[in-house]
Amino acid sequence: VLGWFYIYPGYKLPQDKEIVEEVLRQGDAWQKNQTGIDLYRKLLTECCDPRRMFAVTKENSPMGKVLWYDGEFYHSHTVNNETYSLFVQENPLQLPLKKCAVVGNGGILRHSKCGRDIDQADFIMRCNLPPLSKKYVEDVGTRTHLVTANPSIIEKRFQNLLWSRKAFVDSMKVYGSSYIYMPAFSMKPGTDLSLRAYYALADTSSNLTMLFANPEFLRSVGKFWKSRSVHAKRLSTGLFLVSLALGLCEEVTAYGFWPFSVGLDEQPVSHHYYDNILPYKWFHAMPEEFVQLWHLHKSGTLRMRVGHCP
Ligand code: CDP
Repeated sequence: VLGWFYIYPGYKLPQDKEIVEEVLRQGDAWQKNQTGIDLYRKLLTECCDPRRMFAVTKENSPMGKVLWYDGEFYHSHTVNNETYSLFVQENPLQLPLKKCAVVGNGGILRHSKCGRDIDQADFIMRCNLPPLSKKYVEDVGTRTHLVTANPSIIEKRFQNLLWSRKAFVDSMKVYGSSYIYMPAFSMKPGTDLSLRAYYALADTSSNLTMLFANPEFLRSVGKFWKSRSVHAKRLSTGLFLVSLALGLCEEVTAYGFWPFSVGLDEQPVSHHYYDNILPYKWFHAMPEEFVQLWHLHKSGTLRMRVGHCP
């Protein structure tokens, strides 16, 4: 039983085909393992304290506090009157969350028919403002409780919000009244972009609540996985969210995590469910991350959905 909790060493990364075979061998069998769930919640609480630290709050980041950027060397922001007033008082989530769905953007979601399954969760997390238009609903669902927004999306998709903010505000409506989780203090250019996004929403009385990711939390989660054989410049957004969910939720199911170019039917799979734009090479280590997630699946700590949903 102890062996279950050893982390896959990761010195030899399996080929796409080997992963496919391994996943097929495992089939749909999955059994929840409360000991594994409790263990990971404990490990993550000890390293990273997600309950208190996942977002920047008035409580953990008082006036004058120095926030060290996690994606940048020796760059910091000292909390001042202006920024302090934008922080939520404390962790706004009603804890513990029960069934959580973490939705990655992998092309494996296409034709998965997982939408209903996802929508049945109590708390649904999504990455990088993904499209939720009609044609995807069957596969990815409609509900969202927390969605991440990388500042680079504000730059590329919404022209830095320097011109019309209407397109941005309108396109956020599909996320209902969820939390927008932005790494405002990770990279230098991200701060202004995040603040602009904050004001664009606030000025239009949007139903969304902006949460700034706490760079201290992001850094500690990065270290946690680094010590478990995930070697990348930066963790992928999806792994940050899975880590958050493991710390906050009673049960976690992950969808859309499949960084391989062939599917279980050995047919090509696009990188995203909505396009096939590949990430910068070497920036993330998604296959390494997948191996860790798959290990957690096999040990019953979280459930990965990689095929069709029933
Ligand atoms: O910005 P980033 O590359 O981290 O994310 P994305 O492409 O918007 O996808 C969201 C998340 O889904 C990623 O961070 C990965 O964790 C996961 N993903 C995956 O596992 N396999 C894929 N083919 C694509 C995304």
